[in-house]
Amino acid sequence: MSDIQTQFVKNILSGAKNNPNSCGSAFAPSNIALSKYWGKRDADLNLPINSSLSVSLGALGTRTEIRRTDCDAVYLNGLKVDGHDSFALRTLEFLHLFPDLGTSGFEVRTENNIPTAAGLASSASGFAALVMALDDLAGWGLDKKKLSMLARLGSGSASRSVFDGFVQWNAGENPDGTDSYAEPLSRDWKEFRIGILEISKARKPVGSRDGMNRTVQTSELYKSWPAQANRDIETIRAAIDAKDFPTLGKTAENNALAMHATMMSAWPPLIYLQSESIEAIHQVQRLRSDGLEVYLTIDAGPNIKLLFLEKNTEGVSEAFPGLQCIQPFE
Ligand code: DP6
Repeated sequence: MSDIQTQFVKNILSGAKNNPNSCGSAFAPSNIALSKYWGKRDADLNLPINSSLSVSLGALGTRTEIRRTDCDAVYLNGLKVDGHDSFALRTLEFLHLFPDLGTSGFEVRTENNIPTAAGLASSASGFAALVMALDDLAGWGLDKKKLSMLARLGSGSASRSVFDGFVQWNAGENPDGTDSYAEPLSRDWKEFRIGILEISKARKPVGSRDGMNRTVQTSELYKSWPAQANRDIETIRAAIDAKDFPTLGKTAENNALAMHATMMSAWPPLIYLQSESIEAIHQVQRLRSDGLEVYLTIDAGPNIKLLFLEKNTEGVSEAFPGLQCIQPFE
């Protein structure tokens, strides 16, 4: 916790209401970026170099309950988490950014309904749900823009998980971080589908935070990334408005692979993809050349997220047995 973070939180909370409850609870959806966030311009305030655009996963995400107690206790899916575990440490470190809640400790109960087999990161929905549950506990009555900025301090992608549907996180320009928050776009594309292709459950060897810092510092290719990312957002936004799925799919796939190119050209190289990931990428290309409209995106890990429309669910599921299909707008 730095002075800069403490001051930022103070500013956000100035003018907040004070109607405390004995328990705060909230749900936040997980999200998948179609145009990725990769690279920070400020580590303390967690400010990104480029804007990003995601789709929230509807009912799949995190529910969090928080209470005041004498000493800290963190539960994940019903089980008490060891205080030295990185999940408990990150949760409690974040809560210590809020010293004026009149308690010496917190009991935090977090339930993720994203099947762990899906291999989806839960820090986005986790920090968004935590901030919203805190707002409920303290009775601050903060608007979503402020909740998004607080969630951002926990994890950048969490800034997007305070909203449903398609969401844009504007990078902003101000050094004080007050213009870096997410805003909702359209919530209307019922036929939109995401398929999760699990390649590995293993914890990634280099986390996003260290991975993006290494990329920014050492990758020559990264120089072209911010301009591409910001361009891709415009293209994807227009494709969402026009329900132009091929343009959305192509741009999202190219964006993810361009991000992986910046990672691979870092030193030491960051290779999150495994041989099965590469095989799946080739298979998606083959399916497309056979006329099936399916695209993919990949985060900082080996798992593949397929993008397709409802009418192609059968074709995609046949090609990828065991695929978990998500309907973000149901
Ligand atoms: C590749 O939000 O996990 O998934 O801000 O350091 O917590 P921190 O990073 P995080 O990074 C997500 C990176 C990504 C792309 C994305 O979700 O936009």
